[in-house]
Amino acid sequence: MQIVILKDATEVAEYGANLFVNQLQKKPASVLGLATGSTPVALYQNLIARNHAGDISFANAISFNLDEYLGLDGDHPQSYRYFMNQQLFNHIDIDINNTHVPPGNAADPIVACEVYEQQIAQAGGIDIQLLGIGRNGHIGFNEPSSGLTSRTRVKTLTKATIEDNARFFAEDEYQPHLSITMGIGTILDAKKVVLLATGENKAQAIKATVEGPLTAACPASVLQMHRNAVIVIDEAASSQLADVDFYKHIEAENQKLLARLARK
Ligand code: GLP
Repeated sequence: MQIVILKDATEVAEYGANLFVNQLQKKPASVLGLATGSTPVALYQNLIARNHAGDISFANAISFNLDEYLGLDGDHPQSYRYFMNQQLFNHIDIDINNTHVPPGNAADPIVACEVYEQQIAQAGGIDIQLLGIGRNGHIGFNEPSSGLTSRTRVKTLTKATIEDNARFFAEDEYQPHLSITMGIGTILDAKKVVLLATGENKAQAIKATVEGPLTAACPASVLQMHRNAVIVIDEAASSQLADVDFYKHIEAENQKLLARLARK
C-alpha cells in the first residue's frame, strides 16, 4: 500500500483528483469506479474544474458506482444515483448512459447484482476505483464480516452505518436498511484503488486498515492484499498510526523518484 499523509482535506482531494486526471489523460476511455459520501465531494469538484479547464474529458469514460440503497428510486434525493448526478455527472461531459449505479429499484435485486458484475466485466474491468471508508472500516457497503472475496450483492447495513447516514435523511423520512454493493472481491479486481479519508473520526478505521491484521472485521484492511492501492489521508485521519514518519519518508522518496523519471 502507498500511504500518503497530507495536511488537510483540500490537499487530500487534490491529490486524489490528480490520480484520476492522470488516468484519464493516459486512457480517455477509462473505466472509473466511483464512490459517494461526503469525502469524495471535494475531489469531484476538482474533476469538474479540470474538465471545464479542458485538462480532461469524460466523453469516452465509463463509470460504475460502488453502491446504492435498496428501495430508493434514482430520482430520490437520498439515492446515490441522485447524489452522483448532482455532485458530478450533471457538470461534466460524460455520457449519462455510460454511468452506472446499482439499481436501487430493481424488481429482482439478486439478478440486478449479477447483471452489474457482467456490465463491469463487459466494460473491461475497473481501471481506477475511488473509495471512502466508514468509521467501522466498511468500503462501499461491505460491512464488517463481509466475505473478503464477495461479489456485488444485497447487504444489510449495520446500526452504526444507519446512524452515521441518518444525517442525510429527514426525521420522518424512510431510511433504507438494505443496499446493493459491489463486493470486496469486485473492488479488489480494480487495477488501482484510491481510498480517501479525512478527519479524526476516521483515525481508528485507518489504523485498522493500514496497521491492523487482514480481517473481515475491518473490510478495508483487505487493501493490504491489493497490488496497487493508495491510501490518501489527512493528518487527523493519520493520528492513530504508529509509523507516520516512515510513511512520510517513503512518500517523499516516491515523489523524488517520480520527479527524476519525469525529467528523463
Ligand atoms: C457510506 C458509503 C461509503 C462511504 C461512507 C463514508 O456508508 N456507502 O461508500 O465511504 O458512507 O462516508 P463519508 O465520506 O460521508 O464519511
